[in-house]
Amino acid sequence: MDTKLEIRSFNRHTDLDTVSDIEIDSYSSYLTVDEIRSLSIDRTTRIHVMETETGEIVSFIIFKPLKDKFYIERLATTPHMRRSGAARALLNHLKELAITTDKTLICGLVNEYNLGSQLFAKREGFDYKETQNKEGIEYYYFEWGSTK
Ligand SMILES: CC(C)(COP(=O)(O)OP(=O)(O)OC[C@H]1O[C@@H](n2cnc3c(N)ncnc32)[C@H](O)[C@@H]1OP(=O)(O)O)[C@@H](O)C(=O)NCCC(=O)NCCS
Repeated sequence: MDTKLEIRSFNRHTDLDTVSDIEIDSYSSYLTVDEIRSLSIDRTTRIHVMETETGEIVSFIIFKPLKDKFYIERLATTPHMRRSGAARALLNHLKELAITTDKTLICGLVNEYNLGSQLFAKREGFDYKETQNKEGIEYYYFEWGSTK
């Protein structure tokens, strides 16, 4: 990716609309603006965004720090910037954060039909562990270990 990128925490006053637009473009069962706002003020959840030097948010990650791991709730890149390394950079940022905060795992669920994201997870060093059913939908549970 040529454009210079910065990763920073979500600002609910300036970033909500753009993150919501990316969310709607990325998930068929998307979080509403109100749900994203609620997550952003929920003390158990973190949202980080990646923006270009011109101030465009191109990707975001929503995750929960648990006792020994980070649980990824959402990871999405705006469609026109996909395959440019944005999600990889956000994941690498989370991996560094895991190592510096003594988390041994990063995990998340990917819809069974979402082959692109499964390939992305594999490519970034995550392993398939099991299939989980949530509200009638099958998800593949992936894990990355910091000590691997
Ligand atoms: C999955 C998603 C977050 C990837 O974002 P991205 O910024 O395009 O990913 P990156 O450019 O960092 O991809 C890194 C590598 O993952 C692999 N990859 C990413 N998307 C892929 C796809 N659709 N098909 C196959 N491989 C893919 C590639 O190996 C890629 O490297 P390369 O382009 O050099 O070959 C993005 O497609 C997206 O927003 N999807 C909708 C939301 C979603 O399903 N999220 C699930 C979270 S796991």
